[in-house]
Amino acid sequence: MLLVKDVQKSFDGFRAVSDAQLKVEKGEVVAVIGPNGAGKTTLFNLVTGQLKPDSGEIIFNDENIAGMPPYEICRKGISRSFQIVNIFPRLTVFENVRVSVISYNKRTFNLFSKAENVAVAETEEIIESLGLSEKVKRISGSLSHGDQKVLEMAIALGNRPELLILDEPTAGMSPEETLATLELMKSLSRERGITILFCEHDMELVFSIANKIMVMQHGRTIIEGHPDVVRSNREVQEAYLGGEA
Ligand SMILES: Nc1ncnc2c1ncn2[C@@H]1O[C@H](COP(=O)(O)OP(=O)(O)OP(=O)(O)O)[C@@H](O)[C@H]1O
Ligand SMILES: [Mg+2]
Repeated sequence: MLLVKDVQKSFDGFRAVSDAQLKVEKGEVVAVIGPNGAGKTTLFNLVTGQLKPDSGEIIFNDENIAGMPPYEICRKGISRSFQIVNIFPRLTVFENVRVSVISYNKRTFNLFSKAENVAVAETEEIIESLGLSEKVKRISGSLSHGDQKVLEMAIALGNRPELLILDEPTAGMSPEETLATLELMKSLSRERGITILFCEHDMELVFSIANKIMVMQHGRTIIEGHPDVVRSNREVQEAYLGGEA
């Protein structure tokens, strides 16, 4: 579904991503791990079009999307959330999700008069599937940080993505919220067949949820593969797992 090949990106001569390699198959939950500044967010920005790569290929469903603008990439089926919460804080939960559902429906079906009705049912369904039903009328800015992060996932789902990219979906969450979000991600992938690419600092969480893990350091891909393979890699053990087997 997604293939990142030899992708490079520099900022004023500094190579933030120097050699990124990644393969994501349909239905997988894939984690990108690496220390602060490894290039994870930059890589996601390259895939979703917020940044243009200097070189390399980003193939999504057999098409090279490298350098396309974000709206076009979104239209092709990739949605994302950001490391820093990105919602309309003065709108309610319902309104936030509906904005993205309506924009998808208008774009796709061009049924301007019907878009509103279609959007209500769909919006409610997304909100329910993410466990936010009781907070549907709440002003988004008043939600807990954890709920705001989940709301971001709901907004991203409004675009009916094939591939959902989540940049630190559990950043700043309590252990309980983190666990609940992990369960949500699993069920999104299982029940809706959505492919998920995420990055996350909690190693226990990463190894328990991901089907595949890609490790980045100084902009390079060190290793990519099944969690067991990654766990037994010496460099990864030294860097993340305290040198234990
Ligand atoms: N727009 C930019 N201009 C200049 N340098 C940048 C820019 N964006 C990122 N960088 C640099 O590129 C490197 C990679 O940053 P990036 O945000 O991708 O790391 P990360 O792996 O997401 O880190 P974190 O875990 O802290 O979120 C860092 O050294 C960062 O300072
Ligand atoms: Mg980051």
